[in-house]
Amino acid sequence: MLLEKDIQEVLFTQEELEKRVRELAAQITADYQGKEIILISVLRGSFIFMADLCRSIDLDCTVDFMAVSSYGGGTSSTGQVQITKDLSGDISGKHVIVVEDILDSGNTLSYLLKLLEQRKPASIRLCTLLDKPERRTKPVEVSYSGFTIPDAFVVGYGLDYAEHYRGLPYIGILKPEVYS
Ligand code: IMP
Ligand code: MG
Repeated sequence: MLLEKDIQEVLFTQEELEKRVRELAAQITADYQGKEIILISVLRGSFIFMADLCRSIDLDCTVDFMAVSSYGGGTSSTGQVQITKDLSGDISGKHVIVVEDILDSGNTLSYLLKLLEQRKPASIRLCTLLDKPERRTKPVEVSYSGFTIPDAFVVGYGLDYAEHYRGLPYIGILKPEVYS
């Protein structure tokens, strides 16, 4: 593959991702029996995870999308969170699951969860595919987490570096020389 040369190490293969996503979906299905849920994808990094997750959840669920930016073009959060696209629908009285690609400093999600809570959902939980706990500076409560990873910059399966690499079917560590 064209972009493979920039990957230092594959962390999770396509098969490993599929298996873990099915497990998360099964957990969500069990936890929300009899309830309707709305999955909110935080664009753009979570679009592939969200697409796979919602196809494995065996519940009546709707989806909505939100976009935030806190990164500029680099590899760490600037701390300033901006909403660049808001939800299309109302979430008041609904069971919300926010679907994120990766939880890093926690800046983006602590801001976003607070904002969404003000809209009075019946409940709100976070489902993140990846978690880098070593990097956390703002506490965030995670209900569903796919994998805990070390402090390295990863791409693929929706995750980007400067908008590239999102289409890789696996998750890999980007070679530092690509961004340094
Ligand atoms: P936080 O606000 O620092 O928690 O940043 C969260 C966002 O940063 C994620 O939603 C990703 O878009 C991005 N991000 C953090 N770490 C990585 C990474 O290793 N690869 C790609 N994007 C990342
Ligand atoms: Mg993101």
